[in-house]
Amino acid sequence: IFLLLTVILIGYLLGSISFSYLIAKKVKKVDIRQHGSGNAGATNTLRVLGVGPAVTVLLLDVLKGIVAVWLALFLAPDQSGIFPAMAGLAAILGHNWPLYYGFRGGKGVATTIGVLATLVFFPALFAGIIAIISIVLTRYVSLGSLLFALGTPIFAYFLMETYQIPTMYIILSIFVAILSFWRHRANIQRLVTGTESKIGKKKEAS
Ligand code: G3P
Repeated sequence: IFLLLTVILIGYLLGSISFSYLIAKKVKKVDIRQHGSGNAGATNTLRVLGVGPAVTVLLLDVLKGIVAVWLALFLAPDQSGIFPAMAGLAAILGHNWPLYYGFRGGKGVATTIGVLATLVFFPALFAGIIAIISIVLTRYVSLGSLLFALGTPIFAYFLMETYQIPTMYIILSIFVAILSFWRHRANIQRLVTGTESKIGKKKEAS
């Protein structure tokens, strides 16, 4: 139990490092949460700062999810998968409600990608392909994020035996999907009413 709490704590502290906040502060001396959609994430970094910083944020936010899971796998190898699952979840929660920035963070998508791609690689890959296609076609990043969150547990469930996926990882991916839909509730409302903002060349410089 001590080890479990340790990996959860490390995951949360790692997840709490908000790269969009840090990079926006450094590059433009602004609080990312007061610009664009107000979300501390890669999509909003694209809106506020442009492609380069957005890609950097995306990669670093993905990386912290990967590192949290790896640390747990390394520190506490077990069969059930509870340690990496909890560490990954803690990193996502840290990203969404970061300790260092008044608990106002992002929607957890990039960190979720890192966590799920490490734990359930093929389901995350297949859902990721669908998500990317939908973003390219619609230019709604939020829609792609939701499809990724929804698709991963579905693929994971059906591929459970093929890839020997522990039940714990399926439970995690379901929970993370629910969390993601909850965090995107304002986006969902805008998608339904057709008022969600799209990504595109003309907005990058603003
Ligand atoms: O990763 C978050 C994305 O799905 C939506 O971000 O800034 O458009 O609310 P945003």
